[in-house]
Amino acid sequence: MTPRARLAVLLSGRGSNLLALQAAIERGELSAEIVLVVSNEPEAPGLARARELGLPAVAIPHQGAGGRAAHEAQVLAALEEARTEWVCLAGYMRLLSAEFVGRYPQRILNIHPSLLPAFPGLEPQRQALEHGVRLSGCTVHLVDAGLDSGPIVDQRSVPVLAGDQPSDLARRILEQEHQLYAAALRRLLAEEWKVEGRRLVFGPDVEGQSPAARGPRRNSTEGG
Ligand code: GRF
Repeated sequence: MTPRARLAVLLSGRGSNLLALQAAIERGELSAEIVLVVSNEPEAPGLARARELGLPAVAIPHQGAGGRAAHEAQVLAALEEARTEWVCLAGYMRLLSAEFVGRYPQRILNIHPSLLPAFPGLEPQRQALEHGVRLSGCTVHLVDAGLDSGPIVDQRSVPVLAGDQPSDLARRILEQEHQLYAAALRRLLAEEWKVEGRRLVFGPDVEGQSPAARGPRRNSTEGG
């Protein structure tokens, strides 16, 4: 049996995506276990919710940590201690450095409440409404050192309705986020895939061979 993927979830706030991931695991939809929840905000409701679920959860405050590199070193030490394989950002309000990302190449995911590359950064629902788009949605993507900029794993669209306030659109998008995050991760864990430039491509990398002829599943990564 394939061992369950060891996930760490990094958050700064409410934690509803953490709960959705854990619920998907408990329903048997995701062959994974959450081995650590980290928040840079000690008072984040998501941290309390993680503890209520019995998940290992730690606050690693960025304030007073002695700068970004020192804070990231603390977070990385905690991730390594927990033998983390995948890092899921779920409302984590810190940009990760290239050094941090390089420690988990193509194994850090983020969920963002817009159809990227439209409306990266803060308040994407407000940005979408102000721009006048008719559709928005959510995106799960691999994380690089840019802002909401890594290769896209999957997206769901959500209509913008007349009279929507940012909170209305956010609520409608969040319902989709809760399904999309687990579904995207499930696919990454179950299927072969590789990154070609900006594109994440699912499917075998050896054309014309049956799955049996290709041997066991492996995820290819650029350069290794
Ligand atoms: C979500 O909308 C997510 O897309 C964004 O931050 C929000 C986090 O919500 N990155 P929650 O803390 O998971 O409820």
